[in-house]
Amino acid sequence: MPEKIRFAIVGFGNIGRRHAEHIMANPATELVAVCDTNDAVKGKVPKGVAFYQDINDMLKDIQADVLSVCTPNYLHEPHTIAGLNAGLHTVVEKPMAMSIDECDRMIAAAEANNKIIFAVKQNRYNPPVQAVKELLRNDELGKPYMMQVNCFWNRGDAYYAESDWRGKKVKDGGCLFTQFSHFIDIMYYLNGKITGAEGWIYNFAHQHNTEVEDTGSFVLKAENGSIINFNFTTCSYERNMEGSIALFAEKGTVKIGGQYLNTIEYQKTEAPALPQINIKAKANDYGLYQGSMSNHDKVVQNVVDVLHHNKAVMTSAQEGKEVVRIIELMYAKATRI
Ligand SMILES: NC(=O)c1ccc[n+]([C@@H]2O[C@H](COP(=O)([O-])OP(=O)(O)OC[C@H]3O[C@@H](n4cnc5c(N)ncnc54)[C@H](O)[C@@H]3O)[C@@H](O)[C@H]2O)c1
Repeated sequence: MPEKIRFAIVGFGNIGRRHAEHIMANPATELVAVCDTNDAVKGKVPKGVAFYQDINDMLKDIQADVLSVCTPNYLHEPHTIAGLNAGLHTVVEKPMAMSIDECDRMIAAAEANNKIIFAVKQNRYNPPVQAVKELLRNDELGKPYMMQVNCFWNRGDAYYAESDWRGKKVKDGGCLFTQFSHFIDIMYYLNGKITGAEGWIYNFAHQHNTEVEDTGSFVLKAENGSIINFNFTTCSYERNMEGSIALFAEKGTVKIGGQYLNTIEYQKTEAPALPQINIKAKANDYGLYQGSMSNHDKVVQNVVDVLHHNKAVMTSAQEGKEVVRIIELMYAKATRI
């Protein structure tokens, strides 16, 4: 591995540009090329970075070590496999893919090429999430009883008008893939496997511009015994309101809250109290709307830590696939009202 890890990016929209920013800011990484079918983004490509409109041309031409896959959801599978087959490790944006079958083909390509897939799940780095994970790791909360996950965000017309794949059944997949897979990942990260689901979904306010639901409520069962209540909507009036996870267990109750899982909102535990965490959420701000907490610097650093220092991958392809499995299960079990 060269001293500076060389990145290429495919998909130079909102999140692709965020990757570029952090790849260029990290002293151990450099950005060598960007690919986007839209010629209009060329002007946003940093000086000295090659620009391509076809991923195959880019992969044939360049010398790179890692491909960041930042294209719409339905292209994660083919673009990740193209990168792996060209001999690059890949960082793939959430959701890892749109089905278990796609994930399996990606994992097979990684194994065949002896390369790593890094699944992006940057909310795992949020300090409140890490603090609660540590309590669970040390078995300080005892038997888990119940969890409540609330994802109350706003996605208005401007968001859907900005990119043609958003809100499309085949290209986007739905809110559980695009907006709330982070919360499903944290639910999985804190509980382990999900074994059952039942729920209701409906498109209340986005029928004019999306083919998918905008609201849903689920009850899930986790292998650790916990009953989970998962509520989501993109109809929170005019702005994101809340992203929270409350956990009830034998030896404690904890609520991670804020708009982006950025605070410890409540705690009463047998273990010593967690530090007061109330991060002024630096959300991924896209102007017209806000996304999750901005931790992509840590995603890039994890690639450096793994490739240069033999550390563990923060979210493996198997875990990325597990999140997709939960989403598939939820949609399969959902009643569309
Ligand atoms: N981790 C996060 O918090 C986070 C936040 C936002 C988006 N995302 C994910 O990132 C992905 C992109 O989302 P976005 O909001 O940046 O979308 P976007 O529409 O802003 O950007 C996608 C870009 O991909 C380009 N593109 C489309 N087809 C292409 C192709 N065949 N080859 C090369 N480029 C192509 C488009 O021209 C566009 O510039 C999605 O999968 C989304 O779920 C993750």
